[in-house]
Amino acid sequence: MPLLELLLPPLNPPLSDWHGKTVWIVGASSGIGQATASALHAQGAHVVVSARQANLLDGFVTHHPGSQALVLDATDRQAVHAAAAHLLRQGPLDCVVYCAGHYRAMRANALDVPDMERHVTVNYLGALYLLDAVLPALLARGAGHISLVGSVAGYRGLPNSLAYGPTKAALINLAETLYLDLHDKGIGVSLINPGFVQTPLTARNDFAMPALLTPRQAATAILAGWARGRFEIHFPKRFTLWLKALRILPNRLFFQLVRRVAL
Ligand SMILES: NC(=O)c1ccc[n+]([C@@H]2O[C@H](COP(=O)([O-])OP(=O)(O)OC[C@H]3O[C@@H](n4cnc5c(N)ncnc54)[C@H](OP(=O)(O)O)[C@@H]3O)[C@@H](O)[C@H]2O)c1
Repeated sequence: MPLLELLLPPLNPPLSDWHGKTVWIVGASSGIGQATASALHAQGAHVVVSARQANLLDGFVTHHPGSQALVLDATDRQAVHAAAAHLLRQGPLDCVVYCAGHYRAMRANALDVPDMERHVTVNYLGALYLLDAVLPALLARGAGHISLVGSVAGYRGLPNSLAYGPTKAALINLAETLYLDLHDKGIGVSLINPGFVQTPLTARNDFAMPALLTPRQAATAILAGWARGRFEIHFPKRFTLWLKALRILPNRLFFQLVRRVAL
């Protein structure tokens, strides 16, 4: 653990004892969301998994007794509100995670506006619908935690990321602003920025993905970040720290470097 972390208080109330806690993960039928749900279930949490593919959610519930499936299209605002209301009638939500994501590689010579709109709707608007549906209850209780799954692709512009990157940049900004607004109200806010993880989302990538993790490794990193009360949970550090360094490079150097390495 970095020295600074030992000296300074955590940015969020640490989440380490999951027994009896209710966690709702939207985007949990596969990949990072599913692995995180599974890890939380193993730690004693009551996990609610949401996504569109009912068969995958049902399979999860079969293998994770006591968990709950709530089929949901995150781009359907009414459906998100109805699902939240249903869950809140059962009891308080201790942690709500927006993990739904859509990704297609896109470059400027093949602009596909409908697919760009899809990225905005799934990756960003869905998060807003979820926030709108759960925040009043969290604020009324003065407790709870919201986690948004962004991406290191949101740090700076990257090749192939024309549709995806801007939505993740928006989520990063949204999480920072939420933290400012909600910290003093007793609500934790965290931002999860994974590097490459082997999931259906990245399965079509035809390039080498450096420092590729399994979903289970990603889930371990996420739970560790929550336990330490981190705001930003980024992993694996051997990859994400390089991308963080790109953030502070002057534009001329940044463009030269990315062109050389990734174009
Ligand atoms: N894999 C990586 O390398 C990587 C890196 C950085 C960030 N991320 C982010 O991590 C998150 C999870 O992605 P993943 O890699 O684990 O991919 P994944 O396995 O494809 O998971 C994406 C999840 O989003 C759900 N989803 C998609 N559209 C939805 C909708 N309209 N309504 C509700 N759920 C929807 C999918 O379920 P249904 O299809 O059943 O609806 C699935 O459960 C995403 O936000 C992604 O951007 C991934």
